[in-house]
Amino acid sequence: MNASDADQSSQRQALLAAVCAAPKAELHVHIEGTLEPELAFELARRNGVALRWASSEQLRAAYAFGDLQSFLDLYYAGCDVLRTTQDFDDLAWAYFQRAATDGVVRAEVFFDPQSHTARGVGFEVFMPGLVRAAARAEAELGLSVAYILSVLRHLSEDAGMATLQAARPWREHFIGLGLDSSERGNPPAKFTRLYALARAQGLRRVAHAGEEGPAAYVRDALDLLGAERIDHGVRADDDQALVQRLARDGVALTVCPLSNVKLCVVPDMAAHNLPSLLHAGVKVMVNSDDPAYFGGYVNANYTAVLQAVPGLSTADAYRLLRNSLQASFASAEQIATWTVQLDAHWRARGLDAAKA
Ligand code: ADE
Ligand code: ZN
Repeated sequence: MNASDADQSSQRQALLAAVCAAPKAELHVHIEGTLEPELAFELARRNGVALRWASSEQLRAAYAFGDLQSFLDLYYAGCDVLRTTQDFDDLAWAYFQRAATDGVVRAEVFFDPQSHTARGVGFEVFMPGLVRAAARAEAELGLSVAYILSVLRHLSEDAGMATLQAARPWREHFIGLGLDSSERGNPPAKFTRLYALARAQGLRRVAHAGEEGPAAYVRDALDLLGAERIDHGVRADDDQALVQRLARDGVALTVCPLSNVKLCVVPDMAAHNLPSLLHAGVKVMVNSDDPAYFGGYVNANYTAVLQAVPGLSTADAYRLLRNSLQASFASAEQIATWTVQLDAHWRARGLDAAKA
């Protein structure tokens, strides 16, 4: 390594350290996707549930996915160990501790009720656990937490409507509606009545779109569902008019780089289109999606992207962090406070928000 290479490498390390310690929001994480193999085994033992794998190492070794569906099959199987209120409390508390370590000040967290109600585990079991862990995270970690109820798109719209209905008694404990699971063949158009109901109930609306599905699903999520934010959305890049629209209207895409590599949405990290979306003016940021399955929490995602894509500058890194705060559903005052904290953090590290 010559002197200038060494210089560049140490600058990159300093940038990574600054990004990891920076205040940030995580806007795309599934609580069920934070189930680490070790906790899965502990809960299986606690609840007398038999697992197909002999050890947590064997389970982790099974995490080689060819596409979204191969992951979802394992993810839904993993949910089976979650049986009691304490299980959900333990699961969420473990995530919040990790998030706080990563500098997360705001977490907007998906939960999939249908993955549990289908197994006879009802709202009265999982909601108190999720609510308790969130209250503890707010009190002990200073984290701001909001839950987003996510409906499984491979099931019917009527099933989604029934889920939203069953959630009514817990309405104060979630802020929005999301749409996840198998994207191909389950277009946004299938859920127009559900999203109209969510709007009538005053819920914020987001939807997974353009992960494996086409750019048209991103457009439809906006036009047919009134989605305010798109989860993933990376395939929007196939339609430059759509990219321009996202940039013009300030629609955020909650991008999950390690997830996209693990699920073969992109061939490798160096080929990820996060930089091109960012440079086109789209409000993108970095999230973990299902960190226990994809090899890392939010800082591991920032690190992987910044290491693989040398073209991402200091200003780009700042923009990703700022976008995460700005795209959250927290109050404008709260967002302004966090943004001031981010700016102070950046300046304290001798970094210039505007400079490459
Ligand atoms: N559920 C959990 N993770 C998901 C993903 N990446 N895409 C769709 N549904 C999901
Ligand atoms: Zn997701």
